[in-house]
Amino acid sequence: MTQLKNDTLIRALLRQPTAYTPVWLMRQAGRYLPEYNETRGRAGSFLALCRDPGLATEVTLQPLARYALDAAIIFSDILTIPDAMGLGLHFVEGEGPRFERPLRDEREIRGLQAPDPTAALRYVLDAVRETRGALAGAVPLIGFSGSPFTLACYMIEGRGSADFHTVKALLYRRPELLHHVLEVNCRAVTDFLNAQVEAGAQVVMLFDTWGGILGAAEFREFSLEYLRRTVAGLRQEHQGERVPSIVFTKGGGGWLEDIAAIGCDAVGLDWTLDIGAARQRVGKRVSLQGNLDPAVLLAGPEAVRAQAKAILNAYGKGAGHVFNLGHGVSQHTPPENVAALVAAVRALSPAYH
Ligand code: CP3
Repeated sequence: MTQLKNDTLIRALLRQPTAYTPVWLMRQAGRYLPEYNETRGRAGSFLALCRDPGLATEVTLQPLARYALDAAIIFSDILTIPDAMGLGLHFVEGEGPRFERPLRDEREIRGLQAPDPTAALRYVLDAVRETRGALAGAVPLIGFSGSPFTLACYMIEGRGSADFHTVKALLYRRPELLHHVLEVNCRAVTDFLNAQVEAGAQVVMLFDTWGGILGAAEFREFSLEYLRRTVAGLRQEHQGERVPSIVFTKGGGGWLEDIAAIGCDAVGLDWTLDIGAARQRVGKRVSLQGNLDPAVLLAGPEAVRAQAKAILNAYGKGAGHVFNLGHGVSQHTPPENVAALVAAVRALSPAYH
């Protein structure tokens, strides 16, 4: 395989010295880019785009053609796993994801099985292979999955929600059934991430978008424990190269030390924490990824530069920081503000190394 021309992200995730702070953005490919909307139009729908490896490769590369990003993230979605389990994913325009057959009764839950990723999720692995080839070593490719708990949220609720009350009612009424779903998900997520690594992903990231809705004890029992098991099952190396892992629990700031102790290489932070204080709390255990409020990108280039500088400054000097947003790029983001952000991080960050 081609040697990486730019391994700044890998080095920062492993807390090795770098010349500047690497930057990539969650949802860097998406509806804020006109070229994405054009390709999505050709595909016919978001899911058709995800399922076409050629088109998924094309949109993965679109933000890299515009900005000097230090990573590509494979274009896909966390909900491909429950779809492969037979729950019937579709997207309702303007309303987000829906499952035709959410998990509602004990029989459905007991019948749940982890899919073989090389069969039902082959289209994602094909997209990883094709993108890795097209990148030709320019920057590393990040593979990803939802966390066991975050996937369970959508599988049980059947759709997005502010409070996931159906999931929480099950958690408190029949905890053993939720544990069963989480065990199956843990196997599915571990197998899928390892298959992405085999196909060419050089970093893996777990999105625990909904772990933060839980109480502290419930977070530990129903999300953190399965994140820990997943990370423990990940391939650490592929073809002689370390494959770093990133865990991002949105709303998980209160449990930062616990997340940093599960064996991952880096922890993603949402924008509610001071990244300097977070660094103090984790010490040398992990790298930190984040944590600009995505709303700053709605303001303008001046504000973007000032806020980027504030985050670099808060983290301070030394290795172990990957610049990112605290959540995904909003679809209303003007692309020129993203250009200002990436340029600002590149221009200002060498002073911190
Ligand atoms: O970051 C990237 O550029 C890679 C692609 C990526 C997408 N989704 C593409 C996408 C990644 C990493 C995800 C992860 C994802 N998907 C998460 C975890 C991260 C987070 O945002 O909290 C979650 C919860 C989902 C589930 C999901 N997918 C929702 C709730 C929605 C609808 C909301 C929305 O933004 O429209 C999606 C759709 C989706 N996934 C889009 C994209 C670019 C928009 C689809 C479109 O083109 O209409």
